[in-house]
Amino acid sequence: MQILGVDIGGTGIKGAIIETETGEMLTERKRIETPKPATPEAVAATLKELVQQFEYNGPIGCGFPATIHHGVAFTAANIDSTWVNTAVDQLFTETTGCPCYVINDADAAGICEMKFGVGKDRNGVVMLLTIGTGIGSAVFINGQLHPNTELGHLVLDTKHGPQKAEHYCSERVRVEKDLGWNKFGRRFGRFLNRLEFLFNPDLFIIGGGVSKKFDRFSENFELRTEIKVAETLNQAGIIGAALNAANQIASQQQ
Ligand code: BGC
Repeated sequence: MQILGVDIGGTGIKGAIIETETGEMLTERKRIETPKPATPEAVAATLKELVQQFEYNGPIGCGFPATIHHGVAFTAANIDSTWVNTAVDQLFTETTGCPCYVINDADAAGICEMKFGVGKDRNGVVMLLTIGTGIGSAVFINGQLHPNTELGHLVLDTKHGPQKAEHYCSERVRVEKDLGWNKFGRRFGRFLNRLEFLFNPDLFIIGGGVSKKFDRFSENFELRTEIKVAETLNQAGIIGAALNAANQIASQQQ
């Protein structure tokens, strides 16, 4: 099935038309700056503009940086607080005139990596972490997603006191605090050790733009768990959002 996949982020709204059977991008990726303030109405209008740029009329899969329960946003950590309790599916469907299927952005990236990336055919507990403005997580148990896990909000004991992981070792923190790769690696390693202790995963997958530099910070990790870099990197969110829409459509038709 051909579906427009969209990744809504704090800085950009990106999309491409995806062949969901193969995960292939059938068009170039287009990107529009996220409006400021990123209120529901403003983001919905930008999504509509993106859809028009593709001259597209069909189902849309959207990855969104918040927990999404049956189409409704429950949190808003790195986006405008007015999103809380917004029926995102409904708002986007009404604004674009196309049926929209919304999912947490990290869950979308995870779905893509499990189908086409390093998580393919992996059983057991797989934990994908996206490092960006926030830290997103997607947890799979024998290939099945446990949605909306929000592990980036796990509170860690640090020498600066208790801190949420995404306030301690996200890409935003690395840039804002000008952390060197070793220091950043030690911080992120601490987070991974905590996850390892609490969840005993079989595999960690690291995604988000900074994962391209994985070799520069991963030397500081002391893990017993296997760890890999996401293969689909930047496109995972877009492809996974489209895959999720295709799955939702298929289950509605059953
Ligand atoms: C949000 C998550 C999101 C992650 C990555 C966190 O702040 O709470 O829902 O997946 O950022 O965007």
